[in-house]
Amino acid sequence: MATRHEKLLGEMRTSGLDALALVPGANLLYLLGLTIHTSERLAVAFCGLDGSVRVVLPALERPRAEAEARFPAQFYDWSDAEGYEVGLRQCMEDAGLRGRLGVEYTAMRVLELRAIEAADEEVEVVDATSVLARLRMVKDAGELQAMREAVGVVEEALGLTIAAIKPGVTELEIAATWERAMQAAGSQASFTTIVASGPNSANPHHTAGSRRIERGDLVILDGGARVGGYCSDITRTVAVGELGEEGRRIYDLVLRANRAGVAALAPGRTGVEIDQAARSVIEQGGYGQQFVHRTGHGLGIEIHEPPYLHSAEHDPLPEGSTFTVEPGIYLPGVGGVRIEDNVVLTAAGGDVLTSFPRELQILPG
Ligand code: CO
Ligand code: CO
Repeated sequence: MATRHEKLLGEMRTSGLDALALVPGANLLYLLGLTIHTSERLAVAFCGLDGSVRVVLPALERPRAEAEARFPAQFYDWSDAEGYEVGLRQCMEDAGLRGRLGVEYTAMRVLELRAIEAADEEVEVVDATSVLARLRMVKDAGELQAMREAVGVVEEALGLTIAAIKPGVTELEIAATWERAMQAAGSQASFTTIVASGPNSANPHHTAGSRRIERGDLVILDGGARVGGYCSDITRTVAVGELGEEGRRIYDLVLRANRAGVAALAPGRTGVEIDQAARSVIEQGGYGQQFVHRTGHGLGIEIHEPPYLHSAEHDPLPEGSTFTVEPGIYLPGVGGVRIEDNVVLTAAGGDVLTSFPRELQILPG
């Protein structure tokens, strides 16, 4: 089986890239195994079509990078006193860079871009985002195993967290309970834990604050764990004490939309089709305007990565890709509901990794 690096070289040839520049982050970790810190100090790895790997990096990062590198790489380290310019120019000269240099449009900063352009005016910088996305979208068995474990950790911790929800407890305390339980399992949160209660649950961007839980609240709980570098991302919504008629109606719609999205999964289907399958349930229920976000996002090393389930994703979802299905309805003054699962697309359809119960739970209160 081709290694990730071999697959990268194939994709580079197909896309007409002469070289690729990677900055610290998910792609550098995925392709080269390097976890260089993102900081104000410049670090760039150059992958050549000949299979060479050359890395410009701060001197203090070199020992760890050498230990982590999965294959022979040449390092050009620089100190604060000398600056990166000489090392970068030498590196780019040794790499024989000319022609089209692929870069990560959403990750590379102006710092690296300007430095590369200053080191060699001949280089033509092009967007390699889709090349890299294609490589990372399809997960291998080891990646799927890590994601299953990350799901197991967040779900077990979620059970403990829901048991601790009662009137008077703050959102931040609930978030801390969830995160502590994940830490006790040897993991950590894969993103900032969301606990949105009562009126806050109508705001999809709320994280967690000092508001205390009250009887009659809807509470959105959205969290994830990271295991072996891979993320889980689950949302459940619970009610406290009682739930009014409209709250029940939107809960039922979101649950049906979630199931419709998962049921629509099949090889060859596109992101827009899955989005529409979930969205149409909510539209038909009369709340289309209150489903204010996409149906889902890819999940892996990053909490948001391709593929995306929204109205502009017309490519078929590849088998082996992993993503969330997370419809929601948000009603100012009433509250919100979101139900989010993690799925891997297989030849047979959607294999749902998350198994935490989805039925409406009304907690004592
Ligand atoms: Co989420
Ligand atoms: Co999500």
